[in-house]
Amino acid sequence: MFESLQAASADSILGLIAEHRNDPRAEKIDLGVGVYRTAAGETPVLDVVKRAEQILLDQQESKAYLGTAGAADFNTAMQALTFGDDSPDDRLTTIQTPGGSGSLRVAAGMILKASPGACVWVSEPTWANHVPLLTGAGVDLKTYPYYDTNKHVIKADEMLAALRTAPAGDVVLLHACCHNPSGLDLSVDEWQAIADVVVERKLVPFIDMAYQGFVEDLDRDAYPIRLMAERVPEMMVASSCSKNFGLYRDRVGALSLLAADSATRDIVSSQVNNLVRTIYSVPPDHGAAVVSLILHDDELRSAWVGELAEMRERLIDMRVLLHDALAEKVPDHDFSHLMRATGMFCFLGVTAEQVARLKKDFGIYMVDSSRINVAGITPANVDYLADSIAATLQSE
Ligand code: LMR
Repeated sequence: MFESLQAASADSILGLIAEHRNDPRAEKIDLGVGVYRTAAGETPVLDVVKRAEQILLDQQESKAYLGTAGAADFNTAMQALTFGDDSPDDRLTTIQTPGGSGSLRVAAGMILKASPGACVWVSEPTWANHVPLLTGAGVDLKTYPYYDTNKHVIKADEMLAALRTAPAGDVVLLHACCHNPSGLDLSVDEWQAIADVVVERKLVPFIDMAYQGFVEDLDRDAYPIRLMAERVPEMMVASSCSKNFGLYRDRVGALSLLAADSATRDIVSSQVNNLVRTIYSVPPDHGAAVVSLILHDDELRSAWVGELAEMRERLIDMRVLLHDALAEKVPDHDFSHLMRATGMFCFLGVTAEQVARLKKDFGIYMVDSSRINVAGITPANVDYLADSIAATLQSE
């Protein structure tokens, strides 16, 4: 059976983990996969997660199945975190999923069940795994312009114009905050204009929120979701706890589906649970149980908000550090877009050949598009990084 298979190419983001690990150079820098790192280059388990895990270890009495939707207390807490105090609970259903990717995969299945002819519109560019994940699930995609890679600005007018051509019932995949890969988010006015078009054209918003808390704070980062929830009858939100709880490998996420009324919500709920059973049956428990403990306990929750703020502030500091080092070493080049971006990512703004040279000559790893994860920058490596970028640009 397997003889007919050809080897698949390595994933453009995850493949960099192994390449970097196998590079013997001491000065190598990993700006590839989106994980948070401290100034020491580590991705530690959050203190608050350790505390919640200890409570779980002491108190958990069973590992029996919880069912296709996962833990009800996790789902309630995630729904409130995502939709806020004015959450339209009577029209919403939320299930626990294996990470944000699991959530996206279930959402794709729901699109195929409910509206098999619908296209999903994705930003150009978008997270490298959005396209294979959604098309792999069988969904048809179209793109809307989002980022001008020469000018390093969002193409809001072109985006709006493209969405105005979408037929009613099509689905629009939007990044709630910290757009991956560009790091540039729409302004409040632009979000409102998008919401107008979504309502006018009867489109279905499908919002991916993998970085809640990494721009300003938990509530402001969820603004696009709360805006859409006020304006549209139906929407879907895929959330991930990989980054803001640092639970990457534990696979913790949620999928929320908003229906036009509570009777339809109940049907949607039955269908999404039925779908989950046919894909992975039940979601993994451990990480979600940790998140639920943290979100339901005032003291743990405020400790988490504090650790999240520390991560956010370090990312901002590292952007400034790299920007200033580049401004000094490559003064004829404009890197101001680094400062306008938020969250983990932005484009460095160099060619794929220059990305390859940075890897080969200097052991600096980033995605071919020149997306960098600023968490890989430290006060100790920034000069080497900026010198290497300068040498690469000046060797042209
Ligand atoms: C990234 O974009 O680097 C992260 O979301 C990790 C991943 O799975 O691609």
